[in-house]
Amino acid sequence: MLDSSSDGILKFPAGFLWGVSTSSYQNEGGNHNCQWADWEAQGHIRSGDTCGSACDWWRNVEPDLDLARDLGLNALRLSVEWSRVEPGPGQWDAGALSRYREILTSLRRRELRPFVCLHHFTNPLWFEERGGFASADSVATFERFACTVVEALGDLCQDWLTFNEPNVYAILGYQVGEWPPGKAGEFATACRVMANLARAHAAAYDAIHRLQPPARVGWTHNYLAFQPARPDSVLDRSLARWQGFFYNDPFIDFLEKGRTGFPVGTISGDVSEAVGKLDFAGINVYGRVRIQFNPGAPAMLFGRVVFPQDAIQGDCGHGFPFPEIYPQAIALAAQRVSRLGKPIYVLENGIPDREDRLRPWLIVNATRQVHWLIRGGYDIRGYFHWTLTDNFEWNHGWALRFGLVELDPQTQKRTVRNSGRIFSAIARANAISHELLQQFGEDPVSLPAGMSAGGEG
Ligand code: FCB
Repeated sequence: MLDSSSDGILKFPAGFLWGVSTSSYQNEGGNHNCQWADWEAQGHIRSGDTCGSACDWWRNVEPDLDLARDLGLNALRLSVEWSRVEPGPGQWDAGALSRYREILTSLRRRELRPFVCLHHFTNPLWFEERGGFASADSVATFERFACTVVEALGDLCQDWLTFNEPNVYAILGYQVGEWPPGKAGEFATACRVMANLARAHAAAYDAIHRLQPPARVGWTHNYLAFQPARPDSVLDRSLARWQGFFYNDPFIDFLEKGRTGFPVGTISGDVSEAVGKLDFAGINVYGRVRIQFNPGAPAMLFGRVVFPQDAIQGDCGHGFPFPEIYPQAIALAAQRVSRLGKPIYVLENGIPDREDRLRPWLIVNATRQVHWLIRGGYDIRGYFHWTLTDNFEWNHGWALRFGLVELDPQTQKRTVRNSGRIFSAIARANAISHELLQQFGEDPVSLPAGMSAGGEG
């Protein structure tokens, strides 16, 4: 099945998925009816940019789907924009659903397997005004939306994600306050939001299976490695451990055990309806943060992110820095979710890198890490890079560029980056070539301390 032949080529299992991930707000353009559009209108985008027509997908997605096919990919993840499908409570837009039917049909025609996410950070304005996922009736409201989408699109898609990164949504919106609704330091609300997202996930999981028994339903988790800035400091070590728990564990705990540890679990209460409700686990992995104790930063849970000199960093953007790039975090993430006992997909991995300085290195070493893990027995079924073309990067606007393909948002011109060609070569061969390993691969594959995998034999 999995082979690393004597000529040094690392082959992936047959049927392995090579994809890209995208999201409605970041790619479609013209989404004016969600809380992110409102947030943007209030002037919160640090670069001052506007999303505008984004990558123009709502009007004209087909050329980018051609591009994905021509790169040799066999999967693509996108999200359905809730505010288009349900512009007012209980009002359904048949035109929006039929546009999604066209988009999914176009994907399938190009043999790109669709992974459709029902919620990628954006809420309809009416839902946000009712308190979003902080309100208890959000669970039933989301379930109703999930049912409508699956009834309309279920014949075109089998792989569903309920939520993209529930941890990021809850923490950036209610603890850090960097994202809408911009509440800083509301720890208890952040915990309640995470629990409601798990309840909504469980309700949608059951509903999707009722409507479409062969569906595969999962979610995707943003995993971040937390390490102490000063390994000999007890304070840094304890804080990194505690922050790592708060960020990485509660949602996974709900799916595994129906509850999580103190103090999050004391606030969130019992979520036992979520236990075992997944057919796969997605991991979105970018890197690591090193945490230094900082008593003056309660919203950051008394920690400061520190970047040592040897940190591998992409572009910086405005304010709030993007984490250090650390391909080894894929191993830690896979190890963490493997406790759920389901197939794993890497559903995001990437770097903000306009000049493509580091992306080729990242792609080779991240996919190599995945190969290593598969060889060591991890059931990883696909690697989806974030993302196909540059798109609108939330609070950073157009300042951070994650595309395999460069996009000029003014002219809509696309230019494939070198990393796009490298990813294409890996996807087409379903293997990492000797040349790529020689040029970019670190030797040996470095794993986080304490972990062993199968090696490259
Ligand atoms: C992830 C998000 C995605 C994009 C990348 C860079 O956390 O899911 O929308 O912003 O980061």
